[in-house]
Amino acid sequence: MEIEFYNCKLIRMLRNTFLFVLLIASVNTYAQNPEKKVDNLALTPPMGWNSWNKFGCDVNEQMIRDMADAMDTSGMKDAGYIYINIDDCWHGQRDSLGFIHPDPERFPHGIKALADYIHSKGLKMGIYSDAGYRTCAGRAGSRGHEYQDALTYASWGIDYLKYDWCNTEGLNALGAYMTMRSALDAAGRPIVFSICEWGNSKPWQWAKGIGNLWRTTGDISANFAHNVDHGTWMQLSVLSILDQQDSLRKYAGPGHWNDPDMLEVGNGMSIGEDRAHFSMWCMLAAPLVAGNDLRNMPQQTKDILMNKEVIAVDQDSLGVEGFKYSSADSLEIWLKPLVKGDWAICFLNRSLSAKHVAFDWQKENVVDSLSARDAMFGKIVYSIRDLWTKKNIGTTKRTLAADVPGHDVLMLRLTEAKKSR
Ligand code: GLA
Repeated sequence: MEIEFYNCKLIRMLRNTFLFVLLIASVNTYAQNPEKKVDNLALTPPMGWNSWNKFGCDVNEQMIRDMADAMDTSGMKDAGYIYINIDDCWHGQRDSLGFIHPDPERFPHGIKALADYIHSKGLKMGIYSDAGYRTCAGRAGSRGHEYQDALTYASWGIDYLKYDWCNTEGLNALGAYMTMRSALDAAGRPIVFSICEWGNSKPWQWAKGIGNLWRTTGDISANFAHNVDHGTWMQLSVLSILDQQDSLRKYAGPGHWNDPDMLEVGNGMSIGEDRAHFSMWCMLAAPLVAGNDLRNMPQQTKDILMNKEVIAVDQDSLGVEGFKYSSADSLEIWLKPLVKGDWAICFLNRSLSAKHVAFDWQKENVVDSLSARDAMFGKIVYSIRDLWTKKNIGTTKRTLAADVPGHDVLMLRLTEAKKSR
């Protein structure tokens, strides 16, 4: 009897010690590596849709529902697009306790009902706020209400928060984004945190562990080569955004991505320009957030947004951003290391006239010190797949000869055929 009693006590003591050690160990792991927890939310660049680029402030619950339906039925969901994000202008007023409510006319059934609907389609829902007192369109921002807002979003079932930087005079960006980070943690729901600070304070240097993606520039426009001057601010072209990305690749990786802004595919550029824009965003491992009207996409737009082989370059689990390998006479060559020794290579024609490509693989020396990868064209033969025509076009034994139309790309995937020796 006595022995049994002591045995039980011993077992309980051992079990409690074990649980205690386990608890300390897990607290320690999180304390030493807080970004691990944040990072786990977006191991590949987030994919979805956002209302801003096409609709601006003109948002309402029926349109968002329709967009969720279209995401589901158009094949976008199947291609990997998951988030339905409402941008600015969903807001109504704060109540007497400071809780935010949606605009009652535009969202009569409330955001929770909308999130439930979006979830019922197997999709996730994103929302927008701002670190200042007011959003960019003058709606209620989160300043002073961060914890309340994070709790509200969590109670609505929000999965993604884009957090803007208008009207933040006197605020420190790192501090402001950390406050919302802590508020999201306290709210307890996993919410992808999209830092929209336009690159002003170089968020790539501090935002890992705070957000899952951070804007690197000002706003994009549906223009391939020319910025749009709005007087007080400049809306950027695809090429001018691209030109600001190359030095940032070392800051991105699984869970924490450079964000060169949402897509303008289907919003008015030519097919070649849309294709080049989409290809380059995939080479950059950029978040793929469509910004067009999903309800009536022409086939050509669908073919771009839902090209699974191109998307696979973006979503590659290695999570290494591509880099500019060479640039001459308006023709840029970008490379991106992929899993299992593969590479993506993209020939970008920045000019309006067609360019001839004659690329002798054997003469090229492709080394990426960031990922410690070397293409070794002298030793390895790669088979080549054209990701837009979806055709296999030979191997790297022979010089590649092709014409790239103006404002367009040739995008290829190289896969090791056999080791030559
Ligand atoms: C800023 C952001 C845009 C959009 C608008 C909304 O300009 O950079 O992406 O969210 O605000 O007002």
